[in-house]
Amino acid sequence: MNRHPKALALVGSARKHGNTSRLVDEVLRGFVELGGSAEKVYLSDYSIRHCLGCPCYVWKPKRPCIQTDDLAKLGNLMEPAQLILISTPIYWYGPSGLFKNFLDRWIGLPTSVFEKSHVAAVLTMQDTTPDTAGPTEEMLRRSFTGGAWITYEGSLLASGLHHTPDAITSHPQQLDEGYQFGRSLAEKLR
Ligand SMILES: Cc1cc2nc3c(=O)[nH]c(=O)nc-3n(C[C@H](O)[C@H](O)[C@H](O)COP(=O)(O)O)c2cc1C
Repeated sequence: MNRHPKALALVGSARKHGNTSRLVDEVLRGFVELGGSAEKVYLSDYSIRHCLGCPCYVWKPKRPCIQTDDLAKLGNLMEPAQLILISTPIYWYGPSGLFKNFLDRWIGLPTSVFEKSHVAAVLTMQDTTPDTAGPTEEMLRRSFTGGAWITYEGSLLASGLHHTPDAITSHPQQLDEGYQFGRSLAEKLR
């Protein structure tokens, strides 16, 4: 419990002013309004190389991940946050490659990064059939539940977003759902 929980939002779309980023803004607005603080970063601003499958998680903490890129910087930003807000557009029924490369690399981050952390997800897509996001929602749920390392707070999905980066501005109800999601997350963590 913390009167002023901190959120770190990680945007997994390369479009900085796209739908995912705009919806993340609404979630953070709700979160901050209830006393939280928030920082938002774009994964596309960081060099994130793909996981090489080295057994760094077996070596932990003696030897770090063998990739040399910006992952440690992101880990340092994640560590003080009570809420790690991940986000991605749906690409081919899954997450973006940018996001998936990042998630694969969590295995090499020090366990201290996730101590007492909660994770929640923001997803956006063009389809209006909720099933389209099903494989991604399931992947996240299965990845983050069942272990004691992190608490999963679920995902928020915005749909019917045609390819323009500002499509979500025509969906005030979905933006409001984002805002409410942020408030409920702050309420839970306070
Ligand atoms: C490579 C690519 C693949 C996509 N695949 C899907 C898909 O399988 N289902 C879907 O509903 N939308 C799909 N979309 C649409 C995006 O998910 C949607 O427009 C999203 O809101 C874009 O988010 P952004 O504005 O943050 O980039 C795809 C878009 C791209 C660029």
